[in-house]
Amino acid sequence: MTERYEHAMRRALELASQGPVTGGNPQVGAVLLDADGRTDAEVDALTKVADARGLTAVVSLEPCNHYGHTGPCSVALIEAGVTRVVYAVADPGHESAGGAERLRGAGVEVVSGVLADEAERFLHIWLTSARRQRPWVTVKWAASLDGRVAASDGSSQWITGTAARQRVHEQRAASDAILTGTGTVLADDPSLTARGDAGELMPHQPVPVVVGERAIPTDAQLRRHPAGIIETRSRDLAAVLSDLDSRAIRRVFVEAGPTLVTELVRQGLADEFAVYLAPMLLGGDRLAIGDLGITTLAQGRRLTVTGVERLGDDVLVTAVSEAGGVSIRPAAYSTDEKES
Ligand SMILES: NC(=O)c1ccc[n+]([C@@H]2O[C@H](COP(=O)([O-])OP(=O)(O)OC[C@H]3O[C@@H](n4cnc5c(N)ncnc54)[C@H](OP(=O)(O)O)[C@@H]3O)[C@@H](O)[C@H]2O)c1
Repeated sequence: MTERYEHAMRRALELASQGPVTGGNPQVGAVLLDADGRTDAEVDALTKVADARGLTAVVSLEPCNHYGHTGPCSVALIEAGVTRVVYAVADPGHESAGGAERLRGAGVEVVSGVLADEAERFLHIWLTSARRQRPWVTVKWAASLDGRVAASDGSSQWITGTAARQRVHEQRAASDAILTGTGTVLADDPSLTARGDAGELMPHQPVPVVVGERAIPTDAQLRRHPAGIIETRSRDLAAVLSDLDSRAIRRVFVEAGPTLVTELVRQGLADEFAVYLAPMLLGGDRLAIGDLGITTLAQGRRLTVTGVERLGDDVLVTAVSEAGGVSIRPAAYSTDEKES
C-alpha cells in the first residue's frame, strides 16, 4: 500500500511543480486512485474534483480548511465522495490548517507523512513562510571580488555583466515583492521591473516595497512600476514583513544598499543570499554588509552554499542561513487506515 501511495505522491509532486511559483497559494498536486491503485485522474486543483466516490486522493499538502476565493479543499473532497485522503505534509497555515480533522470528522480515512521529506524540500519556501508568518527573504547584492557593492563615488550600477543582470530579472520575476531602501531609491532611481533579454516587461511583475522614513520623489521611476508600489514610510522591518504576509506575499527579493541589508541580517530576517561576484577589485569602504556586532570568528554567521553558477565573467553564489536551511522531518507515517 505504501509503495503505491509513494508512486502516486511522486506524480502529485510532479504536477505541483507545474503550478505558479509566485502568489500566496502553495504549489499543490493531486492524484486520484481507484481501489486497485490505478491512477484514475490527475487534478492540479482539488476544487476541480467533481465525482470521486470510493476513490483515494493523494495530495502533496494537507487539504486546506479555509474559505478563500474557493471553498476549503477538504470540503470539496468530502463532497466529491473520496473514501481516503493521503497527504505528505501538514498545512501549517494560520487559517488553512485543520483539513485532516475535518476529513476525519466526515468519516474519510486520512494517511499523512507519505514522502514527507521530498514534499518538505519541494515546498520549503512556502512552508517556512507559512510557519513564520512572514515572507521568505532572499537578499541579493552584486559585488566586486573584494566584496564592495559600490565605488567611493557611490556608483554601483553595472558591476556585473549582461548574463548576471538577466539572471537578476528572472529572480525578480520569481518573487512576489522586491524590497529596497530609500537610500537606494534616492541614489540610483531604479525601475525594479522584471525584464526580458530585449528589455520587454515579463508577464509577472513583483511589487516594489520601499522601506524607510523618507518620502520618495514624485518623479521616481518606481512610481511608474506596473505592479504599483508599497511605500512603507517605516524602518520597522518585522512590521513591514508582517504586513507583506497579510498581503499573501511569500517570496521577497531584496535589492537594497548596505544599510538595509545589514539590518535584515542583524535581525535574523535574511533566509537566503544571492551574491553576484564580478572579477573586479574596488577597494574602499563600500562593503556589502556593515557591522553585525561580531567580534570574533566563532560568532560568524554560518551559511550553507546551495548553488554556484557561472554567468559570463561573473559568479552567482547562493547560500541559506543555517537557521533558514532546509529542515527535514523524519518520514514517520501517521495513518488511521483500516487496512494495513
Ligand atoms: N551593488 C548592489 O547590489 C547594490 C544594490 C543596491 C544599492 N547599492 C548601492 O548602495 C548605496 C545606497 O546604500 P544605502 O545603505 O543608503 O541604501 P539602502 O540600504 O537601500 O537604504 C538605506 C535607508 O533605508 C532606510 N531604512 C529602512 N529600514 C531601516 C532600518 N531598519 N535601519 C536603518 N535604516 C533603514 C533608511 O532611510 P530613512 O532615513 O528614509 O529611514 C536608510 O537610510 C548606493 O550607492 C547604491 O548604489 C548597491
